[in-house]
Amino acid sequence: MFSYFIFLVASSVTFLCTHQVSSQGSSCTEYPVFTPSALVVKYGDPANVTCDACQKDCSGDALGLEHAVGKVTKNGTTMFWTVDRLTEWGTLVMCYYNNDAGDQCSSTLDLCIYQPPESVSISFVNHTGMMFENQQYTLQCSVQNVAPVQNLTVTFYRGNTALGHLQSNSEEKKPVNETFTLNITPSREDDGAQYWCEAKLELGPAGPQRPPVVTSEKLPAIVHYGPELIGPPNPDVITITEGDTLHLNCSSVGKPRPSYTWTLPTNSPSYSGSVLTIKSVGFEHEGQYICTVSNTVGTVTKEFNIDVQASPLIRIIVGVSAAVLFVFILCVLCFRSYKQNRK
Ligand SMILES: *[C@@H]1O[C@H](CO)[C@@H](O)[C@H](O)[C@H]1NC(C)=O
Ligand SMILES: *[C@@H]1O[C@H](CO)[C@@H](O)[C@H](O)[C@H]1NC(C)=O
Ligand SMILES: *[C@@H]1O[C@H](CO)[C@@H](O)[C@H](O)[C@H]1NC(C)=O
Ligand SMILES: *[C@@H]1O[C@H](CO)[C@@H](O)[C@H](O)[C@H]1NC(C)=O
Ligand SMILES: *[C@@H]1O[C@H](CO)[C@@H](O)[C@H](O)[C@H]1NC(C)=O
Ligand SMILES: *[C@@H]1O[C@H](CO)[C@@H](O)[C@H](O)[C@H]1NC(C)=O
Repeated sequence: MFSYFIFLVASSVTFLCTHQVSSQGSSCTEYPVFTPSALVVKYGDPANVTCDACQKDCSGDALGLEHAVGKVTKNGTTMFWTVDRLTEWGTLVMCYYNNDAGDQCSSTLDLCIYQPPESVSISFVNHTGMMFENQQYTLQCSVQNVAPVQNLTVTFYRGNTALGHLQSNSEEKKPVNETFTLNITPSREDDGAQYWCEAKLELGPAGPQRPPVVTSEKLPAIVHYGPELIGPPNPDVITITEGDTLHLNCSSVGKPRPSYTWTLPTNSPSYSGSVLTIKSVGFEHEGQYICTVSNTVGTVTKEFNIDVQASPLIRIIVGVSAAVLFVFILCVLCFRSYKQNRK
């Protein structure tokens, strides 16, 4: 009988936190019943449970409650187990009675002892500082002193976006330190975002109403990427009227902030702004302008071909003058031929 009990104890240990009530005995017609049926207790907290050993078929002397810690009070076939501070990982509570056939009919309390993560931190694996767009990096979330680790879910976040949920393969019931990793490939949109991770112990309906959650600090993402022109592309030729104001807009984004150099058609002083402005355009401003945008990651260029037209007023004056001249020449010719005809 005693060796049988040892076997029970050994086989029952694996049932902790799995919400599986174990009952044993070959000729048993009923099994002891625990109320509540499962206990989820934070390490160091008090706990209690009632066991009804049997409804029929048993007397008050052939039953009991095995317990490593705490104390038991008995009233008929009902037993009450209580402990002030549950500080034994793997505590086993087993309720039994012996039936007339001499078999022990027993149930093991489904008891889960948990400990919320003591701390959670996030970092890059083998990397510090800034990242480059479209390269792969590994984030790691370290969770310290958590139990049971198999009920832990770690979630990586970028801002409010969940990037992945991870769980442990370990079946260890005592507190462990565990590291979870996630590969990321940042894009330029991720620049300035914050990475963080969250460790959550999911302990089921018998557990605390709010699952214990511990979050890491925030890890800022600095993503470097080559310059990119913003705004619409240029037409092949930009036609502008003499005297008007010309804006050549080469605005770009990039990280680190790109610098601008301009190649100008005339020997004008060099310029290094994103928008080149000419207040009053003259014919000398005609030609090709090339804007070169670069940072440590890359370089892009934008071309502007400028064609300058005479102003409308001048065009009218020129037009009218030409017409007047034409009429005048016509008149002169007419007059001459008239005079010749008269002769
Ligand atoms: C038994 O445990 C429950 C739940 O934790 C608690 O509300 C109750 O006060 C405890 N009873 C005793 C007698 O310790
Ligand atoms: C024992 O249980 C009976 C019936 O449930 C109850 O009336 C009685 O008060 C209990 N005795 C003690 C000491 O708890
Ligand atoms: C980190 O770098 C060290 C040395 O360069 C290397 O030995 C180690 O395997 C790397 N770890 C990971 C997870 O890549
Ligand atoms: C977890 O890490 C902490 C701090 O590094 C250490 O004190 C503790 O012993 C570790 N626990 C285990 C189970 O390895
Ligand atoms: C704890 O984890 C185990 C293994 O993943 C699972 O079977 C069990 O249902 C979990 N418990 C709760 C209360 O979620
Ligand atoms: C240049 O173009 C960008 C993008 O279209 C625009 O946001 C900016 O206001 C423009 N700058 C000027 C001076 O026109």
